[in-house]
Amino acid sequence: MHGDIPPPSDRARARDAELAATRAVLAGFHGAAELRDLALAVQQALGFIPPPAVPLLAATARVERATVVTLIESDAQLSFTPPGRHHVAICLGKNCSQRGAAILAEEAKRTLGIDFFRVTPDFAVRLEPFYCFGRCHYGPNVRIDAEIHGAMTPPRLTELLRGVPRVG
Ligand code: FES
Repeated sequence: MHGDIPPPSDRARARDAELAATRAVLAGFHGAAELRDLALAVQQALGFIPPPAVPLLAATARVERATVVTLIESDAQLSFTPPGRHHVAICLGKNCSQRGAAILAEEAKRTLGIDFFRVTPDFAVRLEPFYCFGRCHYGPNVRIDAEIHGAMTPPRLTELLRGVPRVG
């Protein structure tokens, strides 16, 4: 029982999901690779470079972490910031999962036509999982930009996603 306080395990899962995605990208490189090539591959796959991925990139390219940070901050093709003018996050925390979050995740993917950590082709919407907004009692929860929508249902989610402005 943790009420509306996000458990540390749920908070850590968001980070773990991004790190797992980064590891999957880096696993495609066998042997030595240039740091920039690795960073570009992560950027291309996830749409950005999660800050917790810096140690992974540093270890894979055998450089200092500061070198990775300097590269990402100075290279226009790399970014620590997720793209997309609008961000949609589906809570996959324990409580929301018990209330059907997985079905909502599938609905969001189907409606937007993208997987987690991806951006729609028009760069309007980025979809990502989240692990507890601290509003478990109102779940399942979905956050669209800064607003958290509780008691979500697949039809309502589809309606909300179709209402997300695709221009401007
Ligand atoms: S599990 Fe807590 S808000 Fe979703």
